[in-house]
Amino acid sequence: PHRDIWYNCEQHVHLEGCLVPELLFALALRNNVNLPSTDGLYTSVASYSAYLSRNDAFQDLDAFLSLYYTGLSVLQTQQDYHDLAMVYFRQAAQDNVRHAEVFFDPQAHTSRGVAYETILAGFKSACTEAQTHLGISSKLIMCFLRHVPAADAIEHYYTARPDLLNGSIAGIGLDSSEKGYPPELFQGVYALALKDEVRRTAHAGEEVGPHVVVSSLDKLHVERIDHGRTIPQDLELLSRMAREGIMVTLCPLSNLKLQGVKSIDQLPVRVFLDAGVKFSINCDDPAYFGGFILDNYCVVQEAFNLTAEDWRQICKASIEGSWCDGTRKRTLL
Ligand code: ADE
Ligand code: ZN
Repeated sequence: PHRDIWYNCEQHVHLEGCLVPELLFALALRNNVNLPSTDGLYTSVASYSAYLSRNDAFQDLDAFLSLYYTGLSVLQTQQDYHDLAMVYFRQAAQDNVRHAEVFFDPQAHTSRGVAYETILAGFKSACTEAQTHLGISSKLIMCFLRHVPAADAIEHYYTARPDLLNGSIAGIGLDSSEKGYPPELFQGVYALALKDEVRRTAHAGEEVGPHVVVSSLDKLHVERIDHGRTIPQDLELLSRMAREGIMVTLCPLSNLKLQGVKSIDQLPVRVFLDAGVKFSINCDDPAYFGGFILDNYCVVQEAFNLTAEDWRQICKASIEGSWCDGTRKRTLL
């Protein structure tokens, strides 16, 4: 991929996952937050960065999530949320992203006493700035945390419902620990979204087998699958994904860093291209996994040696699978 040729869309990036070491330490200082001193991890930007860059920094998803949630303690004011999102949008602009659909985890902040309105206002103003100054259109997607009881997700759905109905938030997602928290637990909140015609996606098949992808489709009525790495283990599901045109948002460096695959060539890139499964390539949590979208494109290219036609197919699917309107899609194609 060449940065002058491809107009990218991204659909799988957690704004909280853009908390790069420099911003983490700057916000800790600004807000007078003490980062845990127990394990020596947060001694300095340099030592923390060095830890994150290790191939063995995380042995699985939960090991990563533990650090991800710890870091969030520095996010407190509307300006903090704005600054966080701008880390993403500035790099996305450099990587030629023209449209981004970005996740955030309201429950990870309201549980610490930050108001929902503070979070949303900070992220929304960043989206506006990204549009005016960087030419990036964007959509916000609120995710529910699987490890938190479903009743809390429903409560947050009702808090956000006016914003979901007026389009300030484009849709809902489901993230956090996959093992032990099956999609079925969240049928209630997804049924509300379906009834409200609110867009729906969910993380599935990141660490767990393809059956969670099937349940996400059948029980949550999702329109996209986030990760979907394990889909090819079920050939009937693989052909169903192609038949129903459901897009998978792959995150190569994420799967590598969280030990889901030993090398990038184990990802189903060629399998999806051959089976006609639509997918995009995304960065997930770039502050933790060693790169933004273009870095992910590059490792895929190194592993699969794709042709220009393959890339055209990937980029086209990524535009068509976006949740922007037809007019915007035509300007991206
Ligand atoms: N939250 C942030 N990143 C995540 C990931 N890769 N999987 C599940 N939950 C997440
Ligand atoms: Zn994710």
